[in-house]
Amino acid sequence: HGTSRINDAGHLEIGGCDVTELKAEYGTPLYIVDEQLVRRRCREYMDAFAASGLGFQVAYASKAFSVMAMCRLADEEGLSLDVVSDGELYTALQAGFPAERIHFHGNNKTPDEIEMALDARIGCFVVDNLVELELLQAIAAEKNQTVNVLLRVTPGVEAHAHHAYAATGQTDSKFGFDIGNGSAQEAVRLASSKANLKLLGVHSHIGSQIFETEGFQLAVERVAGFARKVKEELGIEFSVVNLGGGFGIRYVEGDTPLQVSEYVAAITDAVKTHFAGIGSKLPEIWVEPGRSIVGDAGTTLYTIGTSKEIPGVRKYVAVDGGMTDNPRPALYESKYEAVLANRAGEQPEETVSIAGKCCESGDMLIWDVELPKAESGDLLAVACTGAYNYSMASNYNRIRRPAVVFVQNGQSDLVVKRESHGDIIANDIVPARIAKQPV
Ligand code: LLP
Repeated sequence: HGTSRINDAGHLEIGGCDVTELKAEYGTPLYIVDEQLVRRRCREYMDAFAASGLGFQVAYASKAFSVMAMCRLADEEGLSLDVVSDGELYTALQAGFPAERIHFHGNNKTPDEIEMALDARIGCFVVDNLVELELLQAIAAEKNQTVNVLLRVTPGVEAHAHHAYAATGQTDSKFGFDIGNGSAQEAVRLASSKANLKLLGVHSHIGSQIFETEGFQLAVERVAGFARKVKEELGIEFSVVNLGGGFGIRYVEGDTPLQVSEYVAAITDAVKTHFAGIGSKLPEIWVEPGRSIVGDAGTTLYTIGTSKEIPGVRKYVAVDGGMTDNPRPALYESKYEAVLANRAGEQPEETVSIAGKCCESGDMLIWDVELPKAESGDLLAVACTGAYNYSMASNYNRIRRPAVVFVQNGQSDLVVKRESHGDIIANDIVPARIAKQPV
């Protein structure tokens, strides 16, 4: 997919860059991001919403992959940005992302984070609970500012790729105000009574890696029902409805996501149907895709090292990374596909399992993948690692986090340096009383 292909040398090429050359220049493990594919996904969202005729914002959920260069791409493509911490906010601001298009999420924003965001004059806070509502009002009042607010609500819909959406259960969530038990309506009343808060509307997020449209449509229906009640009983009208992220991508054969345009059309059609006649006009629709913007644009390149064959049982092939750069298989049993990137044209010869290098049996990247007979020094490319890989990477075993490169039109640009040994101990302090004494 994207700009990937096998070149005449039999090497995987992404964005016109031969991965064997990328390895020579940057080393492995290496995260490779297909810039054109990221841009294409951004445009698919922007174009599909533009075609709907509704007012909209597409906020890239930066938790999926937050680095300054990615913030630049999102800005260039006209997207807004969803941040959930001072770190993501700082990254965006340092990248020059326009503050008025930044939305701040999270169920426990600290006073410091709220101050930082207010000082930057971000576009909107997604308020999660009553404690935050009071805190935000108090800090905004101190600063003599009025801030835009959405209230996060739980519409009682929870959807995931591997099981159908469920219309119950979501009430028991750490996020947001329940629309089923009156707490969301009370929050709306309270928020609109606050002098320094400007209530724009509500936010709902129903899950991640979702393939069907039904969950989103049901969420729209529920939120519209709530909006109608709020209008009738409180006389308050929502000008914005944010429907969160969660749009699925294809990791492996058998995954059946829809096209971006299909998700967007399902949502905007549902909005036109269910919000008709509630207020003076239809609300602006915001979404927050993360995975579906960057997921399939990312590839992780590893060098194969050792292997171990257990006759009649399994062959383990180990790479120079693992759960430190991609914790998803260990955390969620996520599945990935891989190719032998320096011999990409060759037919598969054996079934092997790809192990990481961490001291932990669970550090497996792929169970049972068919590959040509791999040798030490061969390159393995694992596909669809653009989302929730770099952003969830760790230094377990004091392994250095890999570099990230953007590739396009035969050009590669380093966007995150590989960590150095110095970085690993940069924050360590040895108290003088136990310091090694010079002899
Ligand atoms: N908006 C909100 C409020 C969210 O909580 C999330 C994801 C998104 C947007 C973006 O969702 P996306 O479009 O990326 O599905 N670490 C997990 C995924 C956690 C998602 C958390 N929230 C993984 O690796 O699968």
